[in-house]
Amino acid sequence: MSTVDLSGRVALVTGGAGGIGSAAARRLAKLGARVAVLDLDAAGARRVASAVDGIAIGADVTDPATMPAAVEQVEEELGRLDVVLLNAGIGGGQAGIDDALDVGRYRRLVGVNVDHVVYGVCAAVPALRRQGGGKVVVTASLAGLTAMPSDPLYTLTKHAVVGYARAAGKALADDGIVVSALCPGFVDTLLLGAAKEEFDAVAFPLLTPSDVADALQTVLAEGGPGEAWIVQPGGQASAYRFRGVPGAGGQLPPDVVLGHV
Ligand SMILES: NC(=O)c1ccc[n+]([C@@H]2O[C@H](COP(=O)([O-])OP(=O)(O)OC[C@H]3O[C@@H](n4cnc5c(N)ncnc54)[C@H](O)[C@@H]3O)[C@@H](O)[C@H]2O)c1
Repeated sequence: MSTVDLSGRVALVTGGAGGIGSAAARRLAKLGARVAVLDLDAAGARRVASAVDGIAIGADVTDPATMPAAVEQVEEELGRLDVVLLNAGIGGGQAGIDDALDVGRYRRLVGVNVDHVVYGVCAAVPALRRQGGGKVVVTASLAGLTAMPSDPLYTLTKHAVVGYARAAGKALADDGIVVSALCPGFVDTLLLGAAKEEFDAVAFPLLTPSDVADALQTVLAEGGPGEAWIVQPGGQASAYRFRGVPGAGGQLPPDVVLGHV
């Protein structure tokens, strides 16, 4: 696994009290960064922050004021911002398309999984520019690259943030800001809910949060702008190769076929 030296750098992790977020916060600290841990679960954020000698921010990422305020607080208290992991997320909860749509829950899902990523990138960019560049990693999901019929709304939100990371990655590359998406398969965290028992019943292999932290480390070391990195149990993280789309006349130029963005 590639490594990266984050000594003297500062990272902000949303959803940092959760399974993947807390493993990521610990890994970023181990690599040398000071870490700000943001979560709706303020007590959980404090627990992780104290374990990594960082700072805790108890806040709701669906509030448009949260990410700008968090970036301001991080710069004030830790002096700078270099790495942002936009990781807070929730499950969709609409099992069947014909289930009655719970509009409040749907808006909440989009607020956490999509809006927060947009708010986070927009808030972080000026701070990263002040350092001459930086890295933003969005915890998307394999459901951002492939259809998950058991949760179409979750699939919708994760495709949205993969698309946003790909486009923002291209748009910000010349500023030295690398935006990428991390796309894990199923991870053994509380987000799995009742599905965890079903996975266990058939011995379905799950990633651990530490596997995802390994993948994050690889993305920070090797990831290019707009890339989407897959991690699956038993495998190394790797950049997904998008097929590209035909141009006028339906031709796919070879370089587009092989391009990853
Ligand atoms: N667990 C999986 O199988 C899996 C697979 C692929 C991607 N992901 C993604 O990984 C990310 C982390 O999920 P996890 O598996 O660690 O789940 P988790 O439930 O353990 O952690 C999610 C964290 O996000 C926080 N959060 C939720 N809503 C918030 C809000 N409005 N404001 C601030 N914080 C909020 C929660 O309090 C929790 O600490 C999510 O984006 C999820 O979609 C998870």
